[in-house]
Amino acid sequence: MKKRLVIANWKMYIHSPDAAKKFISLLKRKSAGLSGVEAWVAPPFTLLPVLKGVKLGGQTLSSYADGAHTGEISAAMLKAAGATFVIVGHSERRTLGDTNEDVHAQLAAAAGAGVVPVLCVGETARSADGAHFSLLEEQLASALRGAQSLAAKLIVAYEPVWAIGKSAEDAMQPGEVEETVIFIRKTLANILGRKEALRVPILYGGSVEPQNAATLITDGGVDGFLVGHASADLEQFVEILKSCRK
Ligand code: PGA
Repeated sequence: MKKRLVIANWKMYIHSPDAAKKFISLLKRKSAGLSGVEAWVAPPFTLLPVLKGVKLGGQTLSSYADGAHTGEISAAMLKAAGATFVIVGHSERRTLGDTNEDVHAQLAAAAGAGVVPVLCVGETARSADGAHFSLLEEQLASALRGAQSLAAKLIVAYEPVWAIGKSAEDAMQPGEVEETVIFIRKTLANILGRKEALRVPILYGGSVEPQNAATLITDGGVDGFLVGHASADLEQFVEILKSCRK
């Protein structure tokens, strides 16, 4: 049975090593009996070396391997700090200046170092003429250009930017999520080949909360979630995990 995957993107919500350690130990206890679902956590970089007991990831990475790049963290550094995956191309990083080209280089750097890339794509707005589909296609094609060999480990997170950081009422409706996930999988099939595309887990992110998690997972056609604000609240995060049980 393929497990569902729920990734906590802690952003800058949880700061202290003590609070983070306590969160993880309670999370393990409260989610111990849940079958068919797995939780991964992407804390701020500084917390990676102090946490254990759950799969950890970075929230972004440098496309460089080493050298004069003040403030950057490479894929190998992430790995050495305990990360097995990394979020790539999150819209909040794109807003800070990461281009499709940067995202492509970061994805290659992650995969090259054996760190699983969680590639985020998403439109800033939906338009009646369907322009958002072309944008998604462009984001996927440019990130995965020449990188067909990465398919074995790739995870894609569909995160409509307009739905991030709000509440369940503002999130995308399951029907729209499903339609977009089908489009993303078709696009992946064109880029990676059908067999590989079918293997890639596609997550949804953008105001996933306990209130909408159950309908999104049953009717949204996704393999799991990338959760922001609700992932920093233990009770809410555990509720979301429960909704994903199989
Ligand atoms: P949100 O964030 O759940 O707070 O909307 C999701 C994300 O940005 O990954």
